[in-house]
Amino acid sequence: MKALEVRIRKARKGDIDRIIDIERSWHHLSHWSIDSYYRLLNDDSFTSSFVAEIEGEKNYPNIVGFVIFHIAADVSEIYNIAVEAAHARSGIGNELMAAAVQESGRRKAHKVILEVRKSNNPAINFYLKFDFKITGERKNYYSNPIEDAYIMELEISD
Ligand SMILES: CC(C)(COP(=O)(O)OP(=O)(O)OC[C@H]1O[C@@H](n2cnc3c(N)ncnc32)[C@H](O)[C@@H]1OP(=O)(O)O)[C@@H](O)C(=O)NCCC(=O)NCCS
Repeated sequence: MKALEVRIRKARKGDIDRIIDIERSWHHLSHWSIDSYYRLLNDDSFTSSFVAEIEGEKNYPNIVGFVIFHIAADVSEIYNIAVEAAHARSGIGNELMAAAVQESGRRKAHKVILEVRKSNNPAINFYLKFDFKITGERKNYYSNPIEDAYIMELEISD
């Protein structure tokens, strides 16, 4: 069987519809407005985002995942990462996270942090597999439904 060929590239404004489709397909994710995505994908010097593409119908590239993160001082924060359910567990999340960590290191961040719902075991396992550690928690951090968050961190070595 041919291995899934995944291409990671910087996100562009034209990708927003697909990014929103993927985000909305996961009901436990906080849903952001289109305006928020336009602001985040403005690619100012702080926010960065990548998409993962595979070859879709008629050889057109199809976006199947994205990561959005923000770098301030020496800390990079993952705002959101998601892979289309049909392509989950194919290593795409891993490639997206690797790109985000590499870009964070290139931009002099020393650690990557994120929050995750305490009930989101698949994501927690994914982060642990990537070597993130649970370093704290935030009470009632999420709404709809209200839930605590774990704070997870990954040190970036030089
Ligand atoms: C979390 C997420 C991005 C992972 O992406 P993915 O492409 O499925 O992950 P990968 O295939 O790269 O998995 C890498 C490793 O993470 C762990 N992992 C990933 N999904 C897992 C699951 N559902 N259950 C347990 N471990 C999991 C495994 O160790 C896996 O390695 P393995 O397949 O060799 O065992 C994806 O599941 C997703 O989009 N979830 C919904 C959105 C979400 O909750 N985002 C996080 C918000 S904080």
